[in-house]
This record gives sequence, structure tokens and C-alpha cells, in this order.
Amino acid sequence: MTSATATTVYVPCDSSALSLGAEAVAIAIASEAARRNASIKLIRNGSRGLYWLEPMIEVATGHGRFAYGPVSAADVPSLFDAGFLDGADHRLALGLTDDIPYLKRQSRVTFARVGLTDPLSLDDYLAHGGYRGLARALEMSGAQIVQEVTRSNLRGRGGAAFPAGIKWKTTLDQESKRKYIVCNADEGDSGTFSDRMIMEGDPFLLIEGMTIAAVAVGASEGYIYLRSEYPHSMRTLAAAIESATRAGYLGPNVLGSGKPFRIEVRVGAGAYICGEETAMLESLEGKRGVIRFKPPLPAISGLFGQPTVVNNVITLASVPVILEKGGKFYNEYGVGRSRGTIPLQLAGNVKRPGLFELPFGLTLRELIDDFGGGTASGRPLRAVQVGGPLGAYFPASMLDLPIDYEAIAGAGGLLGHGGVVVFDDTADLARMARYAMEFCALESCGKCTPCRIGSTRGVEVIDRIIANRERSANVELLRDLCDTMTAGSLCALGGLTPLPVMSALKHFPQDFGLASANGKNNG
Ligand SMILES: Cc1cc2nc3c(=O)[nH]c(=O)nc-3n(C[C@H](O)[C@H](O)[C@H](O)COP(=O)(O)O)c2cc1C
Ligand code: SF4
Repeated sequence: MTSATATTVYVPCDSSALSLGAEAVAIAIASEAARRNASIKLIRNGSRGLYWLEPMIEVATGHGRFAYGPVSAADVPSLFDAGFLDGADHRLALGLTDDIPYLKRQSRVTFARVGLTDPLSLDDYLAHGGYRGLARALEMSGAQIVQEVTRSNLRGRGGAAFPAGIKWKTTLDQESKRKYIVCNADEGDSGTFSDRMIMEGDPFLLIEGMTIAAVAVGASEGYIYLRSEYPHSMRTLAAAIESATRAGYLGPNVLGSGKPFRIEVRVGAGAYICGEETAMLESLEGKRGVIRFKPPLPAISGLFGQPTVVNNVITLASVPVILEKGGKFYNEYGVGRSRGTIPLQLAGNVKRPGLFELPFGLTLRELIDDFGGGTASGRPLRAVQVGGPLGAYFPASMLDLPIDYEAIAGAGGLLGHGGVVVFDDTADLARMARYAMEFCALESCGKCTPCRIGSTRGVEVIDRIIANRERSANVELLRDLCDTMTAGSLCALGGLTPLPVMSALKHFPQDFGLASANGKNNG
């Protein structure tokens, strides 16, 4: 039953919360409210990203939103008994949502609305500042929009950290009747889920970001290349695109500007390599996902040979606030050449996994200890892999490394899409190095020899090292192989696989049966 005095209760509909039973909780709340004649309005919001508290429900009270979690369907009657609709105390009470320390310490710039609103309500989006960026963009020339993005120093969040403004300018400068915006939502990196959280928690933000990109460079068509493992994102995006089109934010005449822009979602088929932009373009064209030679850059000759901006979900979702508040506002966050905020995704053996949006510059230790609470097992932390399957393994002694693109690259790693996976002291880094080679062999597109053949040989060499068969000679061979893969691979899959392998060998030689990283045999 819903009335003017109904209490608003929020239950997340994000995949992470659903996987932890949020649907059953929503059903239990609705039926318990009906049974008790309590007037409630149930809103399915996005997840706040505090996964250890999911399903985290919230209640709107006169004092603000109160949170409870992790809630199971069995907890619901006791929540009603305690008076949770008034924000009353309960063993699962977390207090005012805004005061939860793990939320309070964040700088939610891109994720400002995620968890706050109903992801599928355009009215809610507008009431919380949505589409202000596009309104401003429509008053500007393409060059001015690009200048604003350039001023923000936003760099691509998909992995390569290429400046978005430069990419957009390249496409803007091309003379062509047809240009495209392609959003890379393949999110293949292990331990990452920020794209999914935006698509499921604030889909209009991505749509607005893509529309601003289209207005900036003169594109009329957009594609979202979505991984097939995200069925909830698919449904949310489809519904949001339909609402935006119905309301005139997409279509033949965006907000009466005379500019057309439409968006289509295309679902991938599970190949990691299809996250690489040129393989993704091949896949979008209906072909096998194989890398294209560069040049030409996609910004000049991309989808169907036309100028194409390819950007990650988070890159595009960062654009509306840059247009609304100015590039300078965004640029004020961060350190060095890593400006703005980054949604860090903490996973693996960690007590408090989740997504934390923070300005660049905090250390791995702050992220893992202050936010993550250390290992879930309670055992000592041994290694951290930063940046997905192609990222380096860092030992516990390197946790004071600041999270910024240059600092991590300087330490022999990459920040990638912002995934941080924690391992305790039971991890065997030689096996993880073997896994990196195996992953490369499985996911290689096969176009170039160093990757296609090298990765398979890499697995064999590591097996021989582990088995102590001519260990010193095989360590040398592994180094040589990694050098060849780094220098001779056509794309970053083969080119960066040596990062996890060599970092494991460097920082954890004992796991390979070596006394030191120089290759002295222990066995
Ligand atoms: C093997 C491989 C996999 C990749 N997977 C993804 C991915 O899943 N999502 C993504 O946004 N970028 C991925 N990238 C990076 C893209 O090639 C490209 O740099 C990115 O989509 C550009 O957008 P950005 O500038 O906004 O980061 C991958 C790159 C490689 C080499
Ligand atoms: S490095 Fe691997 S994935 Fe990349 S082009 Fe070569 S074979 Fe294909």
C-alpha cells in the first residue's frame, strides 16, 4: 500500500546485492509491510558499493536515510518489530547512510548518484542534477566541449589512461558525414566491477556522457559493447535508453538541438580480447574479435572505417560533471598527472570488498587497510595484484605506493581499470605467474607469434621451473621469452602478460624455488 505518507524504503537491485539475496529481502519487506498495514514505497536503488554490507537497505526518515545491513529475508520481521521504518536501532543498524565512514571518506564525483536514486527513473536523475552537463554542452561548440574535457585532464579509465580530450579532438578534426561513439563496457579485468555499477546504478549518466561526446565530435550513432556476463546491466541499459529516447534526450533531435544521436547495446560473446578497442570494433562489425593494426587510430578510422571515439564506461560517465561544473573542478582532485577521482575496486582476500571512489594519490595500504580492513582470512597479506590480469603483483613491503598512473608504472605495474586483488600468505606466486601465461594462451586472438606461441611455451617453462627441471636455465629462458613478448607482441595482451609473470619472479623468487630474483637455484 502506498500513500502520501508512505515511508520510502530502498533495496538495491544491483547484481552484487541480488547475488546476496536482495530480491528475497525486497519481497519480504513488501509482504511484511502489507501484513502489518504499514505504508511503504519500495525503491530499488543501485548499490553503494559496500559489498560486505549487502544487501544494505535504507529508510528515508526526517533526519536522513538510515541504513541496515547485511539484511536477509529472515531479518525483515525483526526490523519491523524494532521500528526500522522510523530509523530505529537494530542489531543490523548502520546509522545514517551519509555517516558510514567508508562512504563519508570517499569523493563520490562520478558515483555521486549511485545508490541514491532509482536507476530507472529519469525524473529522479533530473532531480539529482542529471542532464545539466548536456544542457551546457548544447550551448557550446564542439571545440569548446573538447577544450573543457581537455582542461579536466581526464584520462581513459579503461586501462591505457590516454587523455580523453586528445582522443575527442582527433575525431572532431576528421571530415566525415558519419562518426561513432563506442562505449567499451566489456569490463574483462579480474576484480573489476565499476562499469557494471554505473550501468546498473546510474545508467542515464553513461547515456548523458555518450551524448555529450557525440555532440562534441559530431557523431550520430553510439554503441555500448557490453559483456554477456552482465544481463542485469543489459536490461537496465535497454530500459534507460528507451526512457531517454521517449523523453527526447536521444533520437533524431536531441533536446530540440537539431542534432541526432541514438544508442544501441551490443552484447559480446565472452572473449577477453574483445575489450581491446580494435578487436571490439571487429566484433561490432560482426567479425571475429581479432586485433587490427594501428595506425590508423580508431579516432580517425574506426567502426566501419569511420572516425570513432572509443571510451570506457567510467571515462564517459565522468564527462557530465566535467561539463556541468567545469574541467577545472575535476582537475582539482588527484595528484601529478593523474587528475580527478578513480573508482577503486577492492576484491580477493579482503575483509571489506567493494568500490571506493577516491582522488588519485592515496596509498595501496590506505585502501587495503582503512577501507578493506586487511585480509578476510586474518592471515598476513602477501601480495596485491593491481590492474587486472595484466597487472603486476606487489609484495606487502610495497603497499605505501601511491595509487596514480605514473607511480604504479614506475614500480613496474599498471593501474589499468582500477582493480586491486588481495592475496594472503597462502598464495603461491609461481602458480599465479603460470596462470598469467595460461590466461594469455586461452585469450590470445592468435594474430601474432610472441603471444600465441609464447604464452603456451611460457606455461611449459614455468612448469619446468616449478618442477625444478634445469631451473636456472629455464628462469633465463622465461626472462628471454618475456622480453620477446614485451617487445614483439602486437597488442597489450601479449605485451603486458610479462608484467604479472616477471613481478612474481622478482618479488617472490622463493615460490619459484629460487634463493633470489637473480636466478640462484634453491633446489
Ligand atoms: C587485452 C585488452 C583488453 C582490454 N579490455 C578492456 C575492457 O574490458 N574495457 C575497457 O574499457 N578497455 C579495455 N581495454 C582497453 C581498450 O583497448 C581501450 O584502450 C579503451 O577502451 C579506451 O577507452 P578509454 O580511453 O576511455 O580507457 C583492453 C585492452 C587490451 C589490450
Ligand atoms: S598480442 Fe596476442 S591478443 Fe594481441 S594481437 Fe598478438 S596474438 Fe592477438
